[in-house]
Amino acid sequence: MNLTSRSVSRTAIVSTVLAASLGATLIVTTSASAATTLGAAAAQTGRYYGTAVAAGKLGDSTYVNILNREFSMVTAENEMKWDATEPNRGQFNYTNGDRILNQALSNGKRVRGHALLWHQQQPGWARGLSGSDLRSAAINHVTQVASHYRGKIYAWDVVNEAFADGGSGGRRDSNLQRTGNDWIEAAFRAARAADPNAKLCYNDYNTDGINAKSTGVYTMVRDFKARGVPIDCVGLQSHLTNGPPGDYQANIQRFADLGVDVQITELDIAGSSQANGFSSVTRACMAVARCTGITVWGIRDTDSWRTGENPLLFDGSGNKKAAYTSTLNALNAGGTTVPGGPTTTPPDPGSGSCTASVSLNPWTGGFVATVTVTAGSSALTGWRVTTALPSGTTVTGSWSAVGSGTTGTVTWTNVDYNGAVAAGRSTEFGFQGSGSAEGLSPTCTAAAAREAR
Ligand code: G3I
Repeated sequence: MNLTSRSVSRTAIVSTVLAASLGATLIVTTSASAATTLGAAAAQTGRYYGTAVAAGKLGDSTYVNILNREFSMVTAENEMKWDATEPNRGQFNYTNGDRILNQALSNGKRVRGHALLWHQQQPGWARGLSGSDLRSAAINHVTQVASHYRGKIYAWDVVNEAFADGGSGGRRDSNLQRTGNDWIEAAFRAARAADPNAKLCYNDYNTDGINAKSTGVYTMVRDFKARGVPIDCVGLQSHLTNGPPGDYQANIQRFADLGVDVQITELDIAGSSQANGFSSVTRACMAVARCTGITVWGIRDTDSWRTGENPLLFDGSGNKKAAYTSTLNALNAGGTTVPGGPTTTPPDPGSGSCTASVSLNPWTGGFVATVTVTAGSSALTGWRVTTALPSGTTVTGSWSAVGSGTTGTVTWTNVDYNGAVAAGRSTEFGFQGSGSAEGLSPTCTAAAAREAR
C-alpha cells in the first residue's frame, strides 16, 4: 500500500511515529470523526451514496429506516421506466415514481432518474411501433417524463443499455436502434430541452472494465462531446461477481478524462470476496475526482433482483454485513474530492423559524387549500410544512411545493424558487383535494435549501 500518496478525508488525522529503535517508520492513519452512515461518509469528499428503491416497499419500516439512515441518493428501481410511466400512448402515470421522488426529497435525498429509453420494459404499444412513429413516440416520452420531473432530478439515465455484448463494440439491435443510429443523441437533446438542470447520463452493464463494449461507449461519448451533443455523465452499472475488473479505476478515469462525470449506478457483488470487492469498487471511485457517487441496486439481500446471490450490503433482516463495513471504511478513508467540494450530510437543518397558516376554499366533496409560510425574525433558506389530513381526504394536485404523499400526514417542501424567504416576509403554496380539509393546522420548520432539490 502506498501510504505516502494515499489521500485521507478532511477529518482524518495522520500521525507519524518514528520507531527509532527499529529504524522503521510506522504511519498510523486514524479518523478523528469517522462518519457512521454511508451517505455521511461519502459526503466528506462531495460524493453521494445511493440505493435503488421499490415503491412497494415504502411501507416496510425496516426498509425505510435503513433507507432514511444510510442513503443520500435514490433511484426508482422500476417506477420511472417507460412501461410504468406511459402504459398507454400519451397517457402518463407518475403515481409510483412520484411516491419514490417525494419520499426521497422530503427526507433530504436527491434522485437519479432511471431510465428514459431502454429496449427492455417498454410498454406493449411501443414494442409494436417502428420507424418514424416509434422515434416520435420515444422522443415525446423523453420530453414528457423529463418535463414532469423538471428541476427535481440530479441525473437522468437518458439511454440505458444500447450497446451490444461481445466484441463488436457496436450498438445493440433493438426497435429503437432500427429508427436510426442518431436515436441516442436525439434523446439526449430532448432531455436537455425538457430539464436543463439535470445531468444527462448514458448507462450500461459489462462496461466496468476496458473492453470492446466500454470502448464503444467511450467512442460515442467522445463523439458527443466533440459535436456538442449534451451528455454529462456515464453510468457503470457494476453488477459484479467477487469484485471489479483490474482496470476498473483506469476505465473510470478514461471516461472522466473525456469531461464527463462517472457514476456507479447499480452496484451489487455476488461471491465469496464480496466485502473486498465492495471496498475495491469504493476505492476506485474515490480515486477519481469525477466519480461523483455510488448507488447499490437495492437495500437488503432479499430486495435484490439477483435472487439467492445475496449481493447487497444488508442481510434479509436488515443487519449490516461485512460488505457494509468494508464500504464504510473505504469511504471514511477518503480520497479525491469531487468538483464542487464536500457537501454536508446530514443536510444543514437551515436557520430561522417559520409559521404556516391556511386559507380554505371548500365545497362539497373537495377543497383548495392555500398555505402561507411566514419567516420569523431571520430569513429562511428553505422550509417544510406538515399537514395532518383527515382520514378519507386525498390530495389530487399541488403547486409551489413538493408533497411527501397524498393522504394522512403530508410534508410539503419548498421548491427551488420559494425556499428563500426574507425575515418577516411570506410565500405561498397550495394543494387541492377530495374530501375535507376543515380544521387543518399546518406546522412549519426551517430547512436547508438543498433539501428541495
Ligand atoms: O410487479 C410485478 C408483479 O405484480 C408480478 O406479479 C410479477 C410477476 O413476474 O412481476 C412484477 O414485476 C417485476 C418487477 O421487476 C418488479 O419486481 C417484473 O416482472 C420484473 O421483470 C422486474 O424486473 C426488474 C428488471 O430490471 C426488469 O428488466 C428488476 O426489478 C430491476 O431490478 C431490474 O433493473 C435493471 C435495471 O433497470 C437496468 N440494469 C439491469 C438491472 C437488473 O436487471
